[in-house]
Amino acid sequence: MLPSLAMNATPVEILISSPEIQQRIRELAAEIRRDLPGEDIHFICVLKGAFLFLADLVRAMDGGVTMDFMAMSSYGAGTTSSGEVRLVKDLDAGLEGRHVVIVEDIVDTGLTLHYLQDILRARGPKSLRTACLLSKPSRRQVDVQVEYVGFTIEDRFVVGFGLDYDEHHRNLPFIGVIA
Ligand code: IMP
Repeated sequence: MLPSLAMNATPVEILISSPEIQQRIRELAAEIRRDLPGEDIHFICVLKGAFLFLADLVRAMDGGVTMDFMAMSSYGAGTTSSGEVRLVKDLDAGLEGRHVVIVEDIVDTGLTLHYLQDILRARGPKSLRTACLLSKPSRRQVDVQVEYVGFTIEDRFVVGFGLDYDEHHRNLPFIGVIA
């Protein structure tokens, strides 16, 4: 119990506040709906980091929405990804003929999204787009297309609003940096 109590007590400085996040998510929802008027939109939530982003995004959307969940893991621990990505939990349903939007917490090196877009594109969606709450462009190792970006940030390790450090801080309603 002691290590987790210590982690909960770690101060986190606010980088992007909760109202700023909510405002931006409403804008992204409107933008996505403008691009797919009158269509059912199938959102793919990439666990675990995107769970809060998805929850708020779908609640801000008008019209027909469905969703599914998948989990990826990049080997390695700590604050850097090793670049090796694997699928840990697959989707429940197929994507054929659907308008699909991948919902991801952050695009950093781009390796996870690059892999994910490839495997999902191969499943025959009618269209495939990606929404990321955050982007760190200075860290990119592969060119990856992201149609909807919430916030562009510098190369800093962030936590909160779904993002973790060693599984902690996901519940914070803001994006922050460990002080
Ligand atoms: P990639 O480097 O673009 O493949 O990012 C892979 C994953 O690393 C993201 O989906 C996040 O889960 C995690 N990640 C990258 N940067 C951060 C960060 O600043 N905080 C927390 N997790 C991060």
